[in-house]
Amino acid sequence: MNRYWTLSGKPIGAWPEADTFELREGPIPSPGPGQALTRTIYISLDPYQWAYKRRGIDTPSAPCHARTIAQVIESRMEGFAPGDLVFNTNGWAEYGLMGEGVARPSYMIPRKLDPAQGRISQAVGVLGMLGLTAYAGMILMARPKAGETVVVSAASGGVGQIAGQLARLRGARVVGIAGREAKCRFVTEELGFDACVSHLSPTFAEDLRAACPTGIDVYFENVGGAVFEAVLPLFNPGARMTICGLIAHYGDEGGADARAALMAKGQAVFAARGVSVKDLFVGDFVEGHHDTFLRDVAPLVASGQVKYREDIRQGVETVPACFAEMLRGDNFGKMLVQVGPDPTL
Ligand SMILES: NC(=O)c1ccc[n+]([C@@H]2O[C@H](COP(=O)([O-])OP(=O)(O)OC[C@H]3O[C@@H](n4cnc5c(N)ncnc54)[C@H](OP(=O)(O)O)[C@@H]3O)[C@@H](O)[C@H]2O)c1
Repeated sequence: MNRYWTLSGKPIGAWPEADTFELREGPIPSPGPGQALTRTIYISLDPYQWAYKRRGIDTPSAPCHARTIAQVIESRMEGFAPGDLVFNTNGWAEYGLMGEGVARPSYMIPRKLDPAQGRISQAVGVLGMLGLTAYAGMILMARPKAGETVVVSAASGGVGQIAGQLARLRGARVVGIAGREAKCRFVTEELGFDACVSHLSPTFAEDLRAACPTGIDVYFENVGGAVFEAVLPLFNPGARMTICGLIAHYGDEGGADARAALMAKGQAVFAARGVSVKDLFVGDFVEGHHDTFLRDVAPLVASGQVKYREDIRQGVETVPACFAEMLRGDNFGKMLVQVGPDPTL
């Protein structure tokens, strides 16, 4: 049997609750022509998945969407054979189909993985969409220069840890913003950021100012809200800001447009100091930049010049609880749930 999580159909509140999801059991699907059946190994839990649920992209009958690492069990899909390890989108499920007619976001293209390139779980993280997000938003868009001050919010998370390390390798002085003390220590001591301040501190805005004595040249925005408000007065003339995500607002009521609110709040400073603000959508970079990104970043990960922390939980039963923990910052590193054996370990 295939166990999978769907939306329960109960009204969806600001943040996930115990009755938002339902664990179901159904037969393992059979692959049709052009399809392959795969067994899920790792489920990636990402902030954007909450938007899928709140905006009705996930529906109550189907498994909730997620990017996954899986192994092919049976194949009628050209180029894929039983035993192959793949990136695909099985969702919050133990088994899933990929290939012809299987719905997925257009830029999440199933691909075979080469375990020699890095741990297979990293293909949904530093060697996959999160790494590409950090690379695109930092290196291709913000273009940090040696000696500049770069600030990264959600700095210990999946995207933030990579974005900050890439800027540091370009010679920038990098300041992280994270929550708990242990996360801040990890950001400086393990990842090598020059400083890290906690947004949980009552003196957060002053701490950030003290950590950026010459102002901020680049801001990689993952959060919004009070974190953005503390960053705003510190922008230098000609600073660049990449809006990667606004996780503090993913529970806002009534589809409030967090980006528009942020732009309105920042408008006067942006105009007076010539701050350029760019929006990032990783899907725009998959086709043109994925291969270059992997060529550049995979060796840095393999050599340990870019470190990457994962928070891997166990068992399909735990998925909704882990998802809620990730949204409120109780993950420490990129959140994944392992739901089946990893043959590479
Ligand atoms: N633009 C794109 O194409 C794209 C692609 C991928 C991801 N993203 C975005 O990138 C951001 C990071 O995603 P991720 O997958 O790497 O997640 P993550 O950073 O691993 O996990 C989320 C982290 O956000 C922080 N956080 C949550 N609520 C917060 C709040 N109210 N104030 C301050 N910090 C808060 C928490 O860290 P602390 O405990 O340190 O606060 C939490 O651990 C998200 O905004 C996501 O939507 C965008």
